[in-house]
Amino acid sequence: MNNTLTTIILAAGKGTRMQSAKPKVLQTLADKPLLAHVLDTCQSISVDKTIVVYGFGGDQVQQAMTDYSLTWVEQTEQLGTGHAVKVALDELPSTGKSLILYGDVPLVSAETLSRLKQANVQGMSMLTLTVDNPFGLGRIKRDEQGNITAIVEQKDASEQEQAIREINSGIYCVDNALLHQYLPNLSNDNAQQEYYLTDIVKMAVADGIAIAAIEPDYEFEIEGVNNRQQLAQLERKWQAKLVEDLQVQGVQFADPNRVDIRGEVSVGQDVFVDINVVFKGKVSLGNNVTIEAGCMIKDSQVGDNVNIKPYCVFDDAQVAQGATIGPFAHLRPQTVLEKNTRLGNFVEIKKSRIGEGSKVNHLSYVGDAQIGAGVNFGAGAITCNYDGVNKHQTIVGDNAFIGTNTSLVAPVTIGQTATIGAGSVITKNVEDNALAIGRGRQVQKDNYQRPEKKK
Ligand code: UD1
Ligand code: CA
Repeated sequence: MNNTLTTIILAAGKGTRMQSAKPKVLQTLADKPLLAHVLDTCQSISVDKTIVVYGFGGDQVQQAMTDYSLTWVEQTEQLGTGHAVKVALDELPSTGKSLILYGDVPLVSAETLSRLKQANVQGMSMLTLTVDNPFGLGRIKRDEQGNITAIVEQKDASEQEQAIREINSGIYCVDNALLHQYLPNLSNDNAQQEYYLTDIVKMAVADGIAIAAIEPDYEFEIEGVNNRQQLAQLERKWQAKLVEDLQVQGVQFADPNRVDIRGEVSVGQDVFVDINVVFKGKVSLGNNVTIEAGCMIKDSQVGDNVNIKPYCVFDDAQVAQGATIGPFAHLRPQTVLEKNTRLGNFVEIKKSRIGEGSKVNHLSYVGDAQIGAGVNFGAGAITCNYDGVNKHQTIVGDNAFIGTNTSLVAPVTIGQTATIGAGSVITKNVEDNALAIGRGRQVQKDNYQRPEKKK
């Protein structure tokens, strides 16, 4: 048990300046709650126990985080960071180490936390950074040898101390034994009458413990969110980083500032992404994929050589190589497009498979359908999959030709190489190779006189 790693995440702050009904840690960055960013990072470094100290909106926070296995500790009054960790002591193992993190500092990386943990040799390590504008933050005091001696808060700092630009991120790795020893002894005898967690540094130094300090790779890793402006700024920094990572992997962005990645995107070679594309969830793109302007691609897999034309929306779609899609196509959940399919404008597909080389080129709805290979689904042809109560299946065999403006009333099966006349309403199965026409016959009345208005 000596090597256990616990994380204590402070998340009791209300976030008044967000002007929101949501607790601050549930505000989203890249479409994910701030707290979930921290929890995902903890998961990726195999933390043994995660304690979340919550205050305002505890129910809401807990309900939003049911995917994680967490120990919740309530801090009823926000009496300071030291007090917040103190209320977690009952849940803290007596040995091992803890990472102390903030629920509103979402972007600290797994790599930085691993280094922080390794740096804790004597009992305490911390993440610091020298910044241009340290105002408001705790300053790191060092002696002539450069050893850390204390942290002094902005409001307690002398003029001399305020000139220090090395700041405390508030993120530490501390031996649990020391937390158990020091926290009950904190006092709130300071400018803010708060129990400062930072005072444990002085206590450790008095015990002859050398405090190790490391810097994060990126400044945004230690930036917190207190208001909407900061949230938006952090979002931009994070987006810039994600875009850069993809550029390193060979993606060409028409404009790195006009794309958003709200999730994880994995890519092959020579992917091109035009402006105003948004990725959500887990997306994978093969080689030579081109995504044109304004597309939203969510939780989808896209094969090699696929061309997605402007303004398409994908949600949970699998697209095989060589497909051409859009403009203005909507792929809804459980869409599977086989190789070389073509979807044109104003086409919506849901819970359907479109076979190899099939075309659905204009103004169609295909729902709950299995469409074979080589099918031509004419302009405006649709599946009537819903009878007002239940959804029904449509099956279309290979090489069938579905005439323009056909309604396929499900459940219905169209045989292979069958042909459906334009404008048909098809309510009965159609045999292989047959022609089916289901529409009013055209009548003609010669020399027809239109009715005239009486004068
Ligand atoms: C703290 C540090 C400061 C550091 C700064 C970095 C102390 C005394 N000071 O400042 O040196 O530069 O972080 O951002 O630790 N929280 C609780 N319960 C509380 C108080 C705070 O859960 O009673 C949580 C907040 O929700 C927030 C985090 O702790 O997530 C930091 O609180 P905040 O008030 O922003 O930090 P400071 O104390 O001002
Ligand atoms: Ca503060």
